[in-house]
Amino acid sequence: MNENILTIKDGRTEKTYSLPVERGTIRAIDLRQIKEDAEDFGLMTYDPAFMNTASCRSSITFIDGDRGILRYRGYPIEELAEKCTFLEVAYLVLNGELPSEKQLADWVYEVKHHTMLHETTKKFLEGFRYDAHPMGMLVSTVAALSTVYPEARNVLDPQVRRHQIARLIGKMPTIAAYTYRHSLGLPYVYPDNDLGYTANFMNMLWKMVEPKYAADPVLARALSILFILHADHEQNCSTNAMRAVGSSQADPFVSVAAAAAALSGPLHGGANEQVLRMLDAIGTTENIPSYIEQVKAGKLKLMGFGHRVYKNYDPRARIIKWTAEQVFQVTGRNPKLDIALALEKIALEDEYFVKRKLYPNVDFYSGIIYQAMGFKPDMFTVLFAIPRTVGWLAHWDELMRDPEQKIARPRQVYTGADVRHLPAEKPKILVGSAV
Ligand code: ACO
Repeated sequence: MNENILTIKDGRTEKTYSLPVERGTIRAIDLRQIKEDAEDFGLMTYDPAFMNTASCRSSITFIDGDRGILRYRGYPIEELAEKCTFLEVAYLVLNGELPSEKQLADWVYEVKHHTMLHETTKKFLEGFRYDAHPMGMLVSTVAALSTVYPEARNVLDPQVRRHQIARLIGKMPTIAAYTYRHSLGLPYVYPDNDLGYTANFMNMLWKMVEPKYAADPVLARALSILFILHADHEQNCSTNAMRAVGSSQADPFVSVAAAAAALSGPLHGGANEQVLRMLDAIGTTENIPSYIEQVKAGKLKLMGFGHRVYKNYDPRARIIKWTAEQVFQVTGRNPKLDIALALEKIALEDEYFVKRKLYPNVDFYSGIIYQAMGFKPDMFTVLFAIPRTVGWLAHWDELMRDPEQKIARPRQVYTGADVRHLPAEKPKILVGSAV
C-alpha cells in the first residue's frame, strides 16, 4: 500500500492511473491524462461554487470548520482578540510573525502616515447622491485611488506592493468615515495622528466642533477586537475575488474594490446589515416561532446563520457575544440582543438547524454592537471591509510571490447549442453602410 498514491480505474477504457496525493489533494491537471481516446480533451472536475477545490496553498489563516477553530498564522483568534491591537494583528497577518516593539512602532507610524486622502478624492466623494449606499461609495472610491497612484500598477515589485498595502490600510477608515459624513451632509474630519487606529476612525466619524475628539476607550477597544475578528478568513468569496482579479496583475486598488464588491452581497459581508433588518422585521420575541416556520418552509433565510466552512459555532460569534456585553455597559443594552438570543436558542434546538449544522456566524451579533455604538445598518458592511482589507492584501501579496500561480481562469462544461449557421439569404453588412 502506498498512502500517497490515488489509484483510479477508468471504467470506460479499463485503464488504471496512479495520481500523487499531497496534503490531502490531487492536482486536477493530473486528471487530464485520463482520456477515452486520443481525441478526448481529458477528464476535468466539475465544482460549481468551489465546494471541494483548493485554488491555492496559503500559510495565512487556518480554519477547522467542524471544530470551530480559527487561527491567523497559527495563533488562535481568541488569544489575538484578547491580547493584541488591530495593527499588531494586521502586521502578523501580512508578515507571518508578530512584530517586535520597534517593528510595531514603525508599522503604526507607516500606516498613520497614509491616512490622508488626496483632495480630489474628497471631491470625488462629493459626486455621490446624499442617499448613496456607503458600500457603493466605498467600492467606487477605492477603485478611484488607482488613478491617484499609477505606480501601484507595478505589482511585481515587492517594495511597491508594500507601499500600497500601507496606503490601503491607512486610507480605508478615512474613506469609510467620509462615506458616513457624506450621507449625513456633515463636513469631513481629517485624520488625527495622535490617536490609535480605531480611535482615529471614531474621530473621523463623530467629531463635531470640539477641538479634540476623545473616543470612549471601551468602544475603541471593542472596535479593535471586532476588526481583529474580521481581518482574514482564508478563501471566502471576497478573498477569492481579490485573488482572481489580482491574478491578472491588476493594481491593488481595483483588486480591493472588486473584493469589497464581493463582500457587499447579502450572502457574504452584507449579511450583518440584513440581520438587523431581519431583527427589525421580527420585532418581538413572540414573533420568532412564526419567523422560524417561514425559514423552515424555505420562504426566508435566517440571516447571520450558516456558513460554508463552519459546521459548528463560529468562534468569532462567541467573542462578539462577549464583546457586546462590554459595549452595552457603555451604550446601554440594545434591545435587539434579546430577540437575537431568543432566536439563537430556538434555532439551535430546532431539528431543521441541527440537522443542517446551522450555527450563528460572525454577522449574527456584530450588527447589534455596531448599532449600539451609533452606526446605521448600511454602514455595517463598510465596517467589515476596513479590517478585511488586511486579509485581502495578505492574500494578494502571497499570490504575487507564489510561482505556481497564474491568471485565474476556470474551465466550463459547455451545454449550449452545437454549431449552427446564419440563413444563407441573410445579407452581409458592408463597410460604410449605416448600422
Ligand atoms: N437559513 C435557513 N436555511 C439555511 C441557511 C439559513 N441562513 N443557511 C443554509 N441553510 C440551509 C439551506 O437551505 C440548505 O438546506 P437544504 O439542504 O435543505 O437545501 C442547507 O442549509 C445547506 O445550505 P447551503 O445554502 O447549501 O450552504 P452554503 O455553504 O452554500 O451557504 C451561506 C452558506 C451562504 C453562508 C448560507 O448559510 C446563507 O445564506 N446564510 C445566510 C447569510 C449569511 O449569514 N451570510 C454570512 C456568512 S459569513 C460571511 O460571509 C462573513
